[in-house]
Amino acid sequence: MNKKIVFSIVLVQIFGLVLSSQYESIFNFGDSLSDTGNFLLSGALAFPVIGQLPYGKTFFQHATGRCSDGRLIIDFIAEAFSLPYLPPYLAAKEGQSFQHGANFAFAGATALDAEFFYERNIGKSLFLVGEIGGNDYNYAFFLGGGIKQLQAIVPVVVGAIANVTSELIEEGAVELMVPGNLPIGCSAVYLTLFGSGNKTDYDRHGCLKAFNAFARYHNHQLKQALDSLRQKYPHTRIIYADYYGAAMRFVHAPLHHGFYGGTLKACCGGGGPYNFNNSARCGHTGSAACENPSTYSNWDGIHLTEAAYRYIASSLINGSSSTPPLMS
Ligand SMILES: *[C@@H]1O[C@H](CO)[C@@H](O)[C@H](O)[C@H]1NC(C)=O
Ligand SMILES: *[C@@H]1O[C@H](CO)[C@@H](O)[C@H](O)[C@H]1NC(C)=O
Ligand SMILES: *[C@@H]1O[C@H](CO)[C@@H](O)[C@H](O)[C@H]1NC(C)=O
Ligand SMILES: *[C@@H]1O[C@H](CO)[C@@H](O)[C@H](O)[C@H]1NC(C)=O
Repeated sequence: MNKKIVFSIVLVQIFGLVLSSQYESIFNFGDSLSDTGNFLLSGALAFPVIGQLPYGKTFFQHATGRCSDGRLIIDFIAEAFSLPYLPPYLAAKEGQSFQHGANFAFAGATALDAEFFYERNIGKSLFLVGEIGGNDYNYAFFLGGGIKQLQAIVPVVVGAIANVTSELIEEGAVELMVPGNLPIGCSAVYLTLFGSGNKTDYDRHGCLKAFNAFARYHNHQLKQALDSLRQKYPHTRIIYADYYGAAMRFVHAPLHHGFYGGTLKACCGGGGPYNFNNSARCGHTGSAACENPSTYSNWDGIHLTEAAYRYIASSLINGSSSTPPLMS
C-alpha cells in the first residue's frame, strides 16, 4: 500500500550533440508516480490490484502497472519528444530494447529498494535512486510521524536527491529534470487520514494547510540545492519541475480545467467524504471507479488521473512549470 510518490527524478540524457533540442532517449528514476510497469513485473505483491482494471482503463484499456487510470507525466513527456513510452527496466528479460531509454521507477520505492538495483549491478546512480522516495515522507506520516518531526528529515531527503543528481552528472548526464513535491495537503489520502474538525486547518480550496506548507518547505530546499548544483556544474541544464505549482492551478479552478468531479475526491475508491476508504481501496471489494476519470484529478486517493498528469506534463513542456523550460 501507500505507493504514492511525492517526487521522482527524471533524467533526460542527450546523446545528439548537434540537434541539441532533440532528445533521443529518456531514463527515468522514481517511484509509483512514474513507474510504467517495474513494480508489476516484480510481482507487485504488496499492491496486486495495479495488475487489473480499473487501473489502466483509460487509454491503454488494460492494466500496465501504472498507478493511474491511464498515462503518466513521463508518458506525455515521451510523446512530446516523439519517443516511445519508456519501457520498464524489468522488461529486459522479455527482450525489450532500451535504445530510447529505460524506466527505473519502481512503485513504492524507498531507501530499502536500493539493494534491489544494486544486486542487479545496474550502476551507482541507480543504486541511489531508491533512497529518493517521497515514500519516505508518506510512510513516516502514515505511521504517525508529526510534521515538525518530518521537517527534520527534509535536508536528508533533499541531500539524497542532490547526491543522485550529481552522481548522474559525473556519469555524463547534461540535461536533467528534478521534480518537487505535489500539494499533498490536497490529496484524498491525507485529507482522509489527517482530517480536522478545525476549519482553520484548511485553505479556501479545502486542502490541509500544514501539509501543503510541508511540501513547499521541501520544494524550497530542493530548489536551493539545485541552484548549488547549477553553480558547481555550469555545463549542465538542471530543470526544476514545479509539480506543486502546476497542480495548484487546477486545485484553484477545477471547473475551468474540466475537473467537474472536483480535485479533492478520488475517482476510484470505497466511500467516505473523499472517496478514500483504507478498507476498500481502489480495485478492492467495496470500491468502484467513477464513470469519467477525466473529470477527476485524483485517481485512487493516492495517485493522480491521466487527466491530471496530462495537465502537469503540458505545464512542464510549455515551460509554465519548468525552470528553465523543458523545451527550449
Ligand atoms: C551526499 O554526499 C556527501 C558526499 O559524498 C555525503 O557526505 C552525504 O552524506 C550525502 N548525503 C546524503 C543525504 O546521502
Ligand atoms: C483551531 O486552530 C486555531 C489555529 O491553530 C486555534 O487558534 C483555534 O483555537 C482552534 N479552534 C478550535 C475550536 O480548536
Ligand atoms: C469502507 O469500506 C468498508 C469495507 O467495504 C465498509 O464496511 C465501510 O462502510 C466503508 N466506509 C465508508 C465511509 O464508506
Ligand atoms: C501551459 O500549459 C498549461 C496546462 O495545459 C496551461 O494551463 C497554461 O496556460 C499553458 N501556458 C502557456 C504559457 O502556454
